[in-house]
Amino acid sequence: MILLVGGEKGGSGKSCLAQNIAVHVTQKYAAKVLMVDCDPQRTTSDWIQARNTDESLPAINCIQLYGKIRNDLLSLDERYDYVIVDCGGQDNLAMRAAMSVATYVMIPLRPKRRDLKTLPHMEDMLSTCKMVNPKMVATIVLTQCPALPTQVKRILEAKEVVESFGLRVLNSVTFSRNIYDDSEEKGSSVIELDPSGKAAEEIRAIADELFAIPPENSYELN
Ligand SMILES: Nc1ncnc2c1ncn2[C@@H]1O[C@H](COP(=O)(O)OP(=O)(O)O)[C@@H](O)[C@H]1O
Ligand SMILES: [Mg+2]
Repeated sequence: MILLVGGEKGGSGKSCLAQNIAVHVTQKYAAKVLMVDCDPQRTTSDWIQARNTDESLPAINCIQLYGKIRNDLLSLDERYDYVIVDCGGQDNLAMRAAMSVATYVMIPLRPKRRDLKTLPHMEDMLSTCKMVNPKMVATIVLTQCPALPTQVKRILEAKEVVESFGLRVLNSVTFSRNIYDDSEEKGSSVIELDPSGKAAEEIRAIADELFAIPPENSYELN
């Protein structure tokens, strides 16, 4: 199964989510996981490198791929339970290639105007890819949400904006927490750093909500 964590906005939490979901499925399903790093900045590759220096952390495989990666992903999909693609905005070709074969596409956005402004283009790209990949389940996930109760409205409004573009948005979100940064530096995940913490809960909720959505089978014109 191929999961693309993509989107064109830098800093929205793509690498962070890809890494934490990789650890989650490795733990929960004893799954054979491959991470594919399409970002020339190599955030996830560096994370894997930091991870490999700590023997207490179970190893996760990672490769770098750029550009026309469709066929590579299809053959890797046969050898792994989960192929998790971390695709930054720089490599548009890799992102579209991954969208053409992924079963799940998750696009993290912060509930901020500058992130939400990418929605029209994302919707355009997703609906084009859906024509060649009708099984694709695409969803936005809100990340780095403000934890203050007075800011709940901001999260709800962002969800409404996403839905106004006809896109799906997960109920589960991540809140802004230092542990995401702290675990990244150590090559770890929030689940490993604090298994019963709130961030670990968020990651489990996001992954479980996403994978509970069945792959779609037909392309409907609307
Ligand atoms: N929910 C969160 N709370 C706090 N910091 C976060 C959260 N999610 C991600 N981050 C941090 O934000 C920064 C950017 O995230 P990253 O995953 O690298 O973004 P992207 O891959 O989309 O460019 C990283 O330092 C990461 O640790
Ligand atoms: Mg990244």
